[in-house]
Amino acid sequence: GDVRLWGGRFADGPAEALARLSASVHFDWRLAPYDIAGSRAHARVLHKAELLTAEELTRMLAGLDQLEADVADGSFTGTVADEDVHTALERGLLERLGPDLGGKLRAGRSRNDQVATLFRMYLRDHARIIGGLLTDLQEALTGLAEAHPAVAMPGRTHLQHAQPVLFSHHVLAHVQSLSRDAERLRQWDARTAVSPYGSGALAGSSLGLDPGAVAADLGFEHGSAANSIDGTASRDFAAEFAFVTAMIGVNLSRIAEEIILWNTKEFSFVTLHDAFSTGSSIMPQKKNPDIAELARGKSGRLIGNLTGLLATLKALPLAYNRDLQEDKEPVFDSCDQLEVLLPAFTGMTATLTVNAARMEELAPAGFSLATDIAEWLVKQGVPFRVAHEVAGECVKECESAGIELDQLTDEQFARISPHLTPEVRTVLDVPGALAARNGRGGTSPSAVAVQLAEVKQDLAVQ
Ligand code: ARG
Repeated sequence: GDVRLWGGRFADGPAEALARLSASVHFDWRLAPYDIAGSRAHARVLHKAELLTAEELTRMLAGLDQLEADVADGSFTGTVADEDVHTALERGLLERLGPDLGGKLRAGRSRNDQVATLFRMYLRDHARIIGGLLTDLQEALTGLAEAHPAVAMPGRTHLQHAQPVLFSHHVLAHVQSLSRDAERLRQWDARTAVSPYGSGALAGSSLGLDPGAVAADLGFEHGSAANSIDGTASRDFAAEFAFVTAMIGVNLSRIAEEIILWNTKEFSFVTLHDAFSTGSSIMPQKKNPDIAELARGKSGRLIGNLTGLLATLKALPLAYNRDLQEDKEPVFDSCDQLEVLLPAFTGMTATLTVNAARMEELAPAGFSLATDIAEWLVKQGVPFRVAHEVAGECVKECESAGIELDQLTDEQFARISPHLTPEVRTVLDVPGALAARNGRGGTSPSAVAVQLAEVKQDLAVQ
């Protein structure tokens, strides 16, 4: 028989080409459990509105249970002829309950309010999954910082040596951005906890159904949509989800890029565990950071999912338009990508080896303590403009002599400026430079210990 939900006014069935264009079961089938949960809630409000008897409700719920089991074990699946998951599941219900009872569930709902609700439910579940995976990564990075609390490394700006920082401080910087991503997911979830069910096609229902009861039944803490047109036509929840996941991807790509650099022969700051690196099919010596590279690559794809969805929504008139069927694949893909990427990324992070000696060796290189000379001079009463100039002279002298700042002799210092007494040497060592930066958020061991404790506290409650 005809499975379409809209056959009545049509003399002919859909052309094959239309059916193939229109079909979405191959990607919206993952909404099936949510569709069935929505159907249960809908059956209950139909009963509350006296449109289903108690006996009919019992049989309806039993039919939905059976359908759910058949979907779960794969004995019932959608086909191209079903058009979408909602149509397929209605066919499944009709097959199980017969047309008289099965046909009653459509009353007062539309695929427009259904899909908007189920899509929210699906994404809310996956926001929690992704949030949990993100916590795992934050914990792995925090563990890395905690395991190497006092290792100095070259801090960089413009990828050039800038000032020494603690490796733990650098790693915790990444944890901070991921914490904001986790917070964004939680805030998004609270905003998305509103159910469009009951909005019907766009105008609401004339059947006296209770959208608030459906919302509560489906776990939407903030009730039902205030506006049925907005409920069925808005997708900013999906776009925002695509943004948050793209932001996670971009933040991962920044960690990834550093791991790729640190893992090169030239840096040799870290070594990746064999289980989290790959080899080359031709070069036997190769050990490649593919997880980090895939993170870097997938961030582009996550950005594409966001921009593609925004382009679909742009200038779309209210209320529902079929364009909106294009909303799901990009966002489902963002979930899928992060759900395979994050566990691998966390494993790579948790198992990498830190070459502390190499980081410490390079920490003072590249005249990274020049700022400390200038600030020492300021403490002697020299104006910063002059101090900056004098410290610059020191760098110039070192460059032409091929030496580092702490190798300048007392005579060389004195020749550059009478302010540069031998005491300047007290700041020309990395531990001193680090320890001096002990204000909140600074890179001193004591300030980083405070930060680490705060981060661990946040993770414990997240
Ligand atoms: N499958 C559609 C979607 O994902 C929902 C069905 C609404 N279709 C319709 N013709 N009103 O957006």
